[in-house]
Amino acid sequence: MAYIISDEAKDLLKDIKKFCDNEVREQAKEYDKTGEWPKEIYDKAIEQGYTALEVPEEYGGIGLSRVDIAALMEEMAKADAGFATTISASGLGMKPVLIAGNEEQKKKVCDIILNGGFAAFALTEPGAGSDAGSGKTTAVKDGDYYVLNGRKCFITNGEMADFYCVTAMTDKEAGLKGISMFLVEKGTPGLSTGHHEDKMGIRGSNTCDVVFEDCKIPASNLIGQEGKGFKIAMQTLDQARTWMGCVATGIAQRAMEEAIAYTKERKQFGKPIIKNQAIHFKIADMEIKIETARQMVAHALTKMDMGLPFSMESAIAKCYASDIAMQVASEAIQSFGGYGYSREYPVEKLLRDAKIFQIFEGTNEILRIVVGNNIIA
Ligand code: CAA
Repeated sequence: MAYIISDEAKDLLKDIKKFCDNEVREQAKEYDKTGEWPKEIYDKAIEQGYTALEVPEEYGGIGLSRVDIAALMEEMAKADAGFATTISASGLGMKPVLIAGNEEQKKKVCDIILNGGFAAFALTEPGAGSDAGSGKTTAVKDGDYYVLNGRKCFITNGEMADFYCVTAMTDKEAGLKGISMFLVEKGTPGLSTGHHEDKMGIRGSNTCDVVFEDCKIPASNLIGQEGKGFKIAMQTLDQARTWMGCVATGIAQRAMEEAIAYTKERKQFGKPIIKNQAIHFKIADMEIKIETARQMVAHALTKMDMGLPFSMESAIAKCYASDIAMQVASEAIQSFGGYGYSREYPVEKLLRDAKIFQIFEGTNEILRIVVGNNIIA
């Protein structure tokens, strides 16, 4: 089964599949080993416009629906979840501006992405993970500027982002209502990157600390109004979580495809092991879970496209898709037997890649709070 998409998206899907088969799928094995960010692959993806899929049509984007984009994103995730995460995290980094920025800011960030740039969203701090409102980064107004000081961590695209959307405290006394959102451009004095994470999975994506030391930015880089930063961050995550569900679904789909291919080939007791009902049912259970996750992603994105509330649906999509990605990847390893545990076969990587989707952009525990709040309220 697949997303129901437009003819335009179907054509693009064929191109992206070809691109991923030729440029990403096999290459991912190598950068999974080295942990290096494969710039040459992203350069080719930029050339094709694949890093700018989420740019809205009114700012020069190709104007696909979100469900169309999900089909494309899933294809990229099937090739390599790190590759899809880089592109999706760039969409995340752009969202605060699209949600609350002014026209000039929107045009600026969309142009950067259309010209091959990347974005990053800088919310998390060493002491402020799930408790996202407890960050210590400050922004002090100084005439026509704000001066930022603080350290963000676990920032996807941190080292190669061309701009960052950053939360910082403008009024310490006001708690969550003292947090504001800022646009900080690459090259601003006082902006640097720190500790690089050597991750368990999605190793084709980049994750590091982003540091602000007397980082002076124009006051016009405030996104929305002072004190609205936490709300903007929550609205940003509401949207972004569905995309993480989409990428996780892609990991699960790849795991199932690998399990089917292997169990058709592998013979024991004189027949391919897929002929055993134990494997047949395993595959059927995988498909049931994957299709359910995909439908949740599509449902949340359709509500977004229609301008309907989607916060809970997005949390469900991310939570469910990441949980089943772990289950399906684990069952795929089981179908491979001992070979599944070997780095020579593709499925152990999928389990390593899947794990982070239960953690970032809101742990699945926090997302259960979000879902609970929505139905209890
Ligand atoms: N939309 C709009 N407003 C929202 C909102 C939403 N989804 N959620 C909360 N708010 C508003 C509330 O209405 C409230 O405003 P008022 O006071 O005006 O009523 C305000 O925000 C505070 O809300 P809460 O009291 O619910 O806030 P909280 O401190 O209890 O936190 C939380 C809520 C859901 C736990 C939140 O902190 C959260 O989402 N934590 C997880 C953080 C997270 O997802 N981090 C991921 C980082 S990004 C990432 O992973 C980066 C990467 O590079 C991959």
